[in-house]
Amino acid sequence: MGERSASLAIDSAEPIELPIYPASVGPAVIDVGALTRLGYFTYDPGFVSTAACASAITYIDGDAGVLLHRGYPIEQLAQQSDYLELCQLLLNGELPAASDKRAFADAIRSESAVDGRIEGLFAGFQEDAHPMSMLCSATAALASLYHDSMDSDDADCRLATAKRLIAKVPTLAAMCFRHSRGEPFVPPREDLDYAGNFLHMMFASPGKDYAVNPVLARAFDRIFLLHADHEQNASTSTVRLAGSTGANPYACIAAGMAALWGPSHGGANEAVLNMLAEIGSPENIDPYIARAKDRDDPFRIMGFGHRVYKSYDPRAKVMQETCHEVLAELGVDHDPTLKMAQRLEQIALEDEYFVEKRLYPNVDFYSGIILKAIGLPVSMYTAIFATGRTPGWIAHWMEMVSAPYKIGRPRQLYTGVGRREYVPSAERA
Ligand code: SDX
Repeated sequence: MGERSASLAIDSAEPIELPIYPASVGPAVIDVGALTRLGYFTYDPGFVSTAACASAITYIDGDAGVLLHRGYPIEQLAQQSDYLELCQLLLNGELPAASDKRAFADAIRSESAVDGRIEGLFAGFQEDAHPMSMLCSATAALASLYHDSMDSDDADCRLATAKRLIAKVPTLAAMCFRHSRGEPFVPPREDLDYAGNFLHMMFASPGKDYAVNPVLARAFDRIFLLHADHEQNASTSTVRLAGSTGANPYACIAAGMAALWGPSHGGANEAVLNMLAEIGSPENIDPYIARAKDRDDPFRIMGFGHRVYKSYDPRAKVMQETCHEVLAELGVDHDPTLKMAQRLEQIALEDEYFVEKRLYPNVDFYSGIILKAIGLPVSMYTAIFATGRTPGWIAHWMEMVSAPYKIGRPRQLYTGVGRREYVPSAERA
């Protein structure tokens, strides 16, 4: 890679040269591998300034609020592309030709049904099981069907796995929703597109016609698109770490789902609605803002802040526009929850604390309001996020396993006691 290097002098030792590798866009990296020979590790809890891999899939400039998928800005993709086309872009690196796009959509539709043995899993869940507990389990269970046909060294096998996951995760997510309502599952239809099929599997009544609302279908397509990938976030890094052991890709994606579930990550959309419900009315916002600013109070404004974005999350802007479109279509654009969110956003963006720490709304701030207006329970929101993120997770898994890779094995700063001899219980105090 690059010719530059960083000199590191430790105490009086001779300085060592650490290679610097240039990025195609954004920060270069310093290869610190030589440190172990000197008896040192780097120390970076939370990986704030650590690049764990090289990747060509997504680029984020957090200061400028830029998000590029294979070089294309998220704003242009949201306005001009669609979710399955973005899936192909993430997987293959290029926008597909019209014929390839049709073939991919047909392949996904043909794979969207779920084996009856996976359906049988749901009988073991109580109805009030959290959808993410069911989705993680059912996704990992797909490995039981395809484990023996999984050869991650084979490109065709990797692509078949990618299509299978992109096709089946929304069906599993819809099954989680139906199970939580005690309703029978609705199988996917051959005559509907991806988002239309999702709506149908979620809301259709068996034996009755279900008319897909094109505004809601477009909204879901855009919600999935906005969540499709986001560089080396916690859940994607989890997928890569699990994949680095050679684990089955279905298990790796299930691991990513588990990581996404946390309220600091993909669980934030659910946490935003719970927070807005707890605040209750715009008059109560100020005390919560005060709590968010109190270092001794663990309360955070959910849907605000981001490790990378120190300006407005570009996805949040598109999500806000979609929110207004959906609520207007549903005739609920005076929804008190939306009004509360807008008031909270306005107060926070004008508050010195949030300005100084560069805390802005992120992708999760408005998504939950759209999903609430469409009629989804709060517990389903992260499952929607996981459905959207599946192509990103699988694209990173494919990128890693299609080239030489090492098992991920971080080191530590040991702070425990040094060696000591065992004391038989009779001799202990
Ligand atoms: C997602 O990584 C990704 O790309 C994730 C994601 C994706 O697409 O994969 O974008 C999706 O997970 C979005 C984030 C969703 N989470 C939330 O909305 C939860 C609320 N946000 C915070 O928990 C926080 O902002 C994080 C977890 C998102 C970011 O964590 P950081 O960067 O480690 O934040 P930090 O704690 O270092 O924040 C810096 C300062 C701290 O104060 P000081 O220690 O400097 O005094 O800002 C404060 C934080 O206390 N802060 C907040 C805050 N977020 C950060 N204070 C109040 N409210 C907040 N929301």
